[in-house]
Amino acid sequence: MKIIVTGGAGFIGSNFVFHMLDTYKDYKIVCIDALTYAGNMSTLKSVADDPNFKFYKADIADREAIYKIFETEKPDIVVNFAAESHVDRSIEDPEIFLRTNILGTAVLMDACRKYGIQRYHQVSTDEVYGDLPLDRPDLFFTEDTPIHTSSPYSSSKASADLLVLAYHRTYGLPVSISRCSNNYGPYHFPEKLIPLMIINALHDKPLPVYGEGINVRDWLYVEDHCRAIDLIIHKGKVGEVYNVGGHNEMRNIDIVKLICKELNKPESLITYVTDRKGHDMRYAIDPTKIHNELGWLPETKFADGIKKTIAWYLENREWWEEIISGEYKNYYDRMYKDR
Ligand code: NAD
Ligand code: TYD
Repeated sequence: MKIIVTGGAGFIGSNFVFHMLDTYKDYKIVCIDALTYAGNMSTLKSVADDPNFKFYKADIADREAIYKIFETEKPDIVVNFAAESHVDRSIEDPEIFLRTNILGTAVLMDACRKYGIQRYHQVSTDEVYGDLPLDRPDLFFTEDTPIHTSSPYSSSKASADLLVLAYHRTYGLPVSISRCSNNYGPYHFPEKLIPLMIINALHDKPLPVYGEGINVRDWLYVEDHCRAIDLIIHKGKVGEVYNVGGHNEMRNIDIVKLICKELNKPESLITYVTDRKGHDMRYAIDPTKIHNELGWLPETKFADGIKKTIAWYLENREWWEEIISGEYKNYYDRMYKDR
């Protein structure tokens, strides 16, 4: 079995590459990644010399480059993680989100049609459902919840999902889609909430909480997400959407306080800053379908996962110190100075 994994130098994609190489000793994993600001070759250091692993630096929206790779590799399965993934960056400048997330998805699926494929899997997000009100804890996102997006990021992901379903109906492409809640764990890029707060707290820098910090996210340890995708590509039904989430809703402020406690840092570092535009209030996944059909359940409890994640950031300073010393500094100033 040969699997193309796009975006494998990013957070979830790299964790998926490690999971697959560990789990299936006879599979070949071919990673395609453009190495944008979010992609890092140092993340893939541990598998670089694995004979079952191969890497191509390429943009998924570059049709010629993608067709060439498919012609050479003839993959059985494609799992598309490659995306622009940060909501705040999409608010600042949406265009690259449209190119990578929508056009890139179409190019990959065209390559699948041209060269033949057993399965094209689209890694999507719960953000395509929009948000839920804080005063209705009884409501959850199911696969039938209407698409209702808020940010340029989530709109680009929803557009890609619609295209994936259209390619199934129109061309009979064997597709599947997973819509997962917020992930956390090793190799999470420092711009996102949990790593940003860990790294700032370690430097005794202000911890910038948007608005009142009462927005709720449904957090899942990254390895649990990778196991869900593994199950879907092997046993999930073609043409179906699967929601992935572990019923672990937390308010942002409570996460930040927990990180302070774990690192023995004062809560006085917490600074409330101007809210994100169009900020979604609450995400909450109903994972009944993937549980009933595929037997998936999350294995890592948040209390353990957050400890493991903090320990990873303490033990892998080199990885994130290199990132935050470069172009990231400009991003951080643009986003947080005078906020
Ligand atoms: P990430 O930003 O950490 O990584 C994205 C990777 O894609 C990077 O390695 C980057 O170099 C690569 N990439 C970007 N544009 C590319 C292009 N044009 N061609 C080839 N490669 C390109 O993102 P992530 O958090 O690992 O998210 C992976 C996927 O999972 C995304 O599709 C995202 O929408 C989805 N998702 C993320 C979360 C989350 O909590 N992080 C939750 C649900 C779904
Ligand atoms: P983020 O990690 O960007 O993920 P998403 O927007 O995809 O859910 O943000 C998670 C939550 O944390 C979101 O409600 C915004 C909030 N947040 C802050 O309060 N401060 C920050 O510096 C960041 C990056 C996020």
